[in-house]
Amino acid sequence: MALRAVPHVEGGSTAGIETGSTRSKFGMVEDEVARCQEIAEDHPDAIALAGLHVHIGSQMTDIGLYVAAAEVVAEKAAAIKARFGDDFRHVNIGGGFPISYVKYNDQSPDIGYFHSDLEPGDVAAKVVPVLEGKLGADIEILTEPGRAMTSDSGLLLTRVEGLKRRDGTTWLYLDAGYNIIPESAFGWYFHMVTANRTGETNTDRFRVVGPLCDSIDVYFDMEGEAKVQELVDAKPDWAGDRALLEDKLVHMPGYRELPAATTSGDLVAILDTGAYQLELTNHYCGRPRPGAVMVGEDGSVKTIRRAETPADLWRGEEG
Ligand SMILES: Cc1ncc(COP(=O)(O)O)c(C=O)c1O
Repeated sequence: MALRAVPHVEGGSTAGIETGSTRSKFGMVEDEVARCQEIAEDHPDAIALAGLHVHIGSQMTDIGLYVAAAEVVAEKAAAIKARFGDDFRHVNIGGGFPISYVKYNDQSPDIGYFHSDLEPGDVAAKVVPVLEGKLGADIEILTEPGRAMTSDSGLLLTRVEGLKRRDGTTWLYLDAGYNIIPESAFGWYFHMVTANRTGETNTDRFRVVGPLCDSIDVYFDMEGEAKVQELVDAKPDWAGDRALLEDKLVHMPGYRELPAATTSGDLVAILDTGAYQLELTNHYCGRPRPGAVMVGEDGSVKTIRRAETPADLWRGEEG
């Protein structure tokens, strides 16, 4: 058995994916860890206290957070190891390694935690000495990378269904909405390219949106932008601090820079969607889910999930 502890380190790039403090629902605080140790001690035939685990958040771009969590783990694990001896074999520092969603080749939105050069090896170089220093070189160190391993293995291809020009703004309607990329509605940034126009250098700015019935079905931070406007309307003298408000409240660029000729029928590739996205797709607004294909190193294409038909919308329903 391993215990998941609360290290009281707030990792994660947003509150919703911060899992290392008592703000989140995860883990055990000190007296809970102590109680578990008592139970393990009372039942040595049934329970071996073999490890200690933390996972402090996702898309963590600050190396100091991993070190802070490792210091807590090292301290707590050393105490448990002193009590349980060789039964205690591993520490698990969780996942959270970031990827660079922002690509600086054709657009450079300054959107903080969506860009990172931090590599898992950089984290290991700082964290392993902290753990081995306290626990010895024989301690097994586990880690649980998620998005860093799989994000760039997947992309979503979506078709442009239409354009609308209003007040100097071009709105680009895609056939994939927030039923396919739900994280876009939470303000998560995925880079886009017009897949059939990658060689075109003349670009324009587009307000990119999905096909569904809610205004939030967009690829910009509608809630954040509205919140800034509400605050400035309520406190007009805050208008001078608009840049600060936007920095704190708006998490995606308002426009996507795509080839200016991008038009109906084109294919837009939404990149780095290989982690968490496929299983988040849903039937909202009565839309069948798309299929998924795997492209082999040799260029071979294999269907790994068939595209749904309308009949899949009522599959499993009774009565
Ligand atoms: C306990 C635990 N470990 C690891 C991960 C992977 O996180 P990431 O994809 O940020 O590396 C998660 C994600 O939810 C998790 O809950």
